[in-house]
Amino acid sequence: MTTLNRRWLLARRPRGRATVDDFRYDEQPFTPPDLADGQVLVRTRVFSCAPTMRNWMNEPGRSYRASIGLGEPIIGVAAGVVIASRNPRFPVGCGVSAVMRWEDYTVLSPDTTATPVLRVPDGMALEDALGVFGLNSLTAYFGMLRVGEPKPGETVVVSGAAGSTGSVAAQVARNIGCRVIGIAGGATKCARLVEDLGLDAAIDYKSEDVSARLKELCPDGVNVFYDNVGGDILHAVMDNVAVHARIAVCGQVAAYDSDQPAPGPRDMMKLVYWRVRIQGFVMGDYAHDAPAALEQLRTWRDEGRLAYRIDLREGFDQLPGAFLDLFTGGNDGALLVRG
Ligand SMILES: NC(=O)c1ccc[n+]([C@@H]2O[C@H](COP(=O)([O-])OP(=O)(O)OC[C@H]3O[C@@H](n4cnc5c(N)ncnc54)[C@H](OP(=O)(O)O)[C@@H]3O)[C@@H](O)[C@H]2O)c1
Repeated sequence: MTTLNRRWLLARRPRGRATVDDFRYDEQPFTPPDLADGQVLVRTRVFSCAPTMRNWMNEPGRSYRASIGLGEPIIGVAAGVVIASRNPRFPVGCGVSAVMRWEDYTVLSPDTTATPVLRVPDGMALEDALGVFGLNSLTAYFGMLRVGEPKPGETVVVSGAAGSTGSVAAQVARNIGCRVIGIAGGATKCARLVEDLGLDAAIDYKSEDVSARLKELCPDGVNVFYDNVGGDILHAVMDNVAVHARIAVCGQVAAYDSDQPAPGPRDMMKLVYWRVRIQGFVMGDYAHDAPAALEQLRTWRDEGRLAYRIDLREGFDQLPGAFLDLFTGGNDGALLVRG
């Protein structure tokens, strides 16, 4: 029987909101390639859907990463199993996570790729390697601690707080003794922020006036804002910052699925008078410290101080639809698709 390599390709560049028609399914007979020294052949198993992939679908020059070529496979973080290897660090049978293509079989060159290829620790589920111990959790850990620099007792606000990155960022701040308020869409997600993550309060941006609620909840102002969303939520937090506030800009998901750039604060003098620091970051800047961060995350997880929710979809055919759910809040936790 012929082995097939199933793929999802970029059919066209989205104009405004992405739709399923921007993706095209394709399958080709697959013959295992001859590997060069250092290469591995991976059978992909689990795909992580991340909002920033929407930026890679735009024309070149609008993201710090290379954009996906028209007619080329969609690119994103995924995990799989090594099925052929010419790299002693990645023997046949081991799990691996990396930026891969939305296809069944991918050749990786772990020693030379720009983005890290990580071996999944023996015994760890691929879903956990992409989820609670994945790149989003490391992003949250470094973004909160190194960029937000919260101190115990300070008031921290996190947008996108029910999501993969935001939920961990909020718990990192809670675990070091901050008062934490999460912003998310909908009553169910907000209830979980308080009940499951142990945050001090939650604001439903879909039904509440965020600025007014922050004024009530943070009479002395917001010391640290970890922003995944931007736009109106950034404006609302800027209305309520404390003197010497730090804003860690992790992402601006509210602007991704549009043709518009993400807007900044509407009054720059607020930064001057309140001495506010706004700093963007990318997780890769801290990759060298990942082992220690993962150890801390594991400790918190073992102690029951790091809850993590995975929204696991079944089926390679589900990939485009699952991805689009990220922009309506249709995901309920870290969005993974088992192919
Ligand atoms: N800087 C880095 O190195 C780095 C690395 C990883 C991720 N990120 C960023 O982290 C953020 C979260 O990514 P994630 O992978 O963890 O996804 P996620 O938060 O699990 O899922 C995306 C969530 O964004 C919210 N959202 C979507 N459109 C929105 C809008 N217009 N207004 C308000 N909220 C909206 C939705 O939550 P609700 O249901 O609450 O609306 C949705 O569930 C993104 O901005 C991403 O780019 C940055």
